[in-house]
Amino acid sequence: EKGGYPHYMLKEIMEQPRVLFETYTGLASSRELENAAKLLSNAEKIFVTGAGTSYHAGLVFAYYMARIAKRPVIPFISSEYLAYRDMDHSNSVLVAISQSGETIDTLQAVRSFKSSGGRVIAVSNVIGSTIPREADVTVYTRAGPEIGVAATKTFLTQVLALTGMALTLAQYNGSMTQNEYRKAMDTLKNAGHAASAGIDRSIRAVELLASSLRSKGNIYVLGRGLGVALAYEAALKIKEVSYIHAEAYPAGESKHGPIALVEDGFPVIFVGVPPREELHEKLQSNVMEMKARGASTIVVGVSGYDDLKGVDFYIDVGNYDEILAPYAVVPPFQLLAYKLAVMLNRDPDKPRNLAKTVTVE
Ligand code: M6R
Repeated sequence: EKGGYPHYMLKEIMEQPRVLFETYTGLASSRELENAAKLLSNAEKIFVTGAGTSYHAGLVFAYYMARIAKRPVIPFISSEYLAYRDMDHSNSVLVAISQSGETIDTLQAVRSFKSSGGRVIAVSNVIGSTIPREADVTVYTRAGPEIGVAATKTFLTQVLALTGMALTLAQYNGSMTQNEYRKAMDTLKNAGHAASAGIDRSIRAVELLASSLRSKGNIYVLGRGLGVALAYEAALKIKEVSYIHAEAYPAGESKHGPIALVEDGFPVIFVGVPPREELHEKLQSNVMEMKARGASTIVVGVSGYDDLKGVDFYIDVGNYDEILAPYAVVPPFQLLAYKLAVMLNRDPDKPRNLAKTVTVE
C-alpha cells in the first residue's frame, strides 16, 4: 500500500507529479473555480485562514491575489479567529483551507464568519467533510488520501487550486486579459512536470545536504516574496519530522534580530524564486551578511540564482516562472525533511506528539 516505498511520506512526495495533474483536470472540468471567483469578486474584504501547512498555502494565495488579481487579502492563522469575531462580515469572504476539512480551529473560524454575515469558500481534500458542508462554495484539491502526518502532496494541490482561483478572479476583474488568463492556466497545467523536475534535479543533492545538516541543532530558512511562504512551509516540514529546530522568516528581517544567533557553521537555506529581476540583488546581500558571520549558506532555487556569490551549496530546480516555481522548489524541501528524519531514525509518517487532524482546541 506504500507503493513500494518505505514510508507514506516518501510515497506521497513522489505522487505529486501525478496528483497535481489530477487536481488541474478536476478543476478544469468543474465550475468550482468560477463559483469561488464570483464570490470573491463581490467581496469588499477577503480573508484567508488555515492551520499549519494549510495556512502556508493561504500565504501563497494572498501573494498571488495581490500580485495577479490586485486584491489585498488578510491572512490569519485559524486559531486566531477571535480577533475578527465582533465585526460585520456581511461583505466579507473567508477562504478556509483545510486538507481534512475537520480541523477545529478552522471550523471555528468558518462558524464565526458565518454568524457575522460572511460567506465562506472552503478549499479541502475530503469530500463531504465538515468545513465544505458548512461553506457556501467548495474547491476540492483531489489529492487522494494522505496517510503521512506531514502534509506534502496536499500542500501543492492546495497551492494549485488557490492559484487557479486567483487567476480566475484576475480574469473576472480585468487584471488579466482573456488571453493572459488562458496562457497562465495552460502554464498551471504543467505543475506536475515542474514537481517531477524538482524531484529529479534535487534527489541526489538533498542526500548530501541532509548528511551535512543531520548534526545541526538549528536551521534558518529565508526567502523573499513568494519565497517567504515556501520557507515557512520548509521549516515546518523539517521540524515536524526530523525534530531539528528550523525557523523561517522573510530574509530582510535578519538584521532586525535573528542574525544575532548566527555563528560559524550555522546553516542558512535561502529559497530562490522569481521574479529574479526584483529579488536577486537583495538575496545576494542577504547571503553575504550571513556569510560574513560564518554561516554555511545553501540556496534552493530556480535557475538564475546560480551566480550568487558566497553560496556553499546550491540546488538548481530548473527554470520556472512565478506561477510554476512552487511546484519545483517545494519537493526538495519535503525530501530534505524526509531524509533528515530517516537519517536520525525518526518515523517520518508518525512524528511524536502529533495527530494528522487536530479536532480539539
Ligand atoms: O487538515 P488541515 O489542513 O486543516 O490540517 C492543518 C494542519 O494541522 C496540518 O497542515 C499540519 O500542520 C501538518 N501536520 C503539517 O505537515
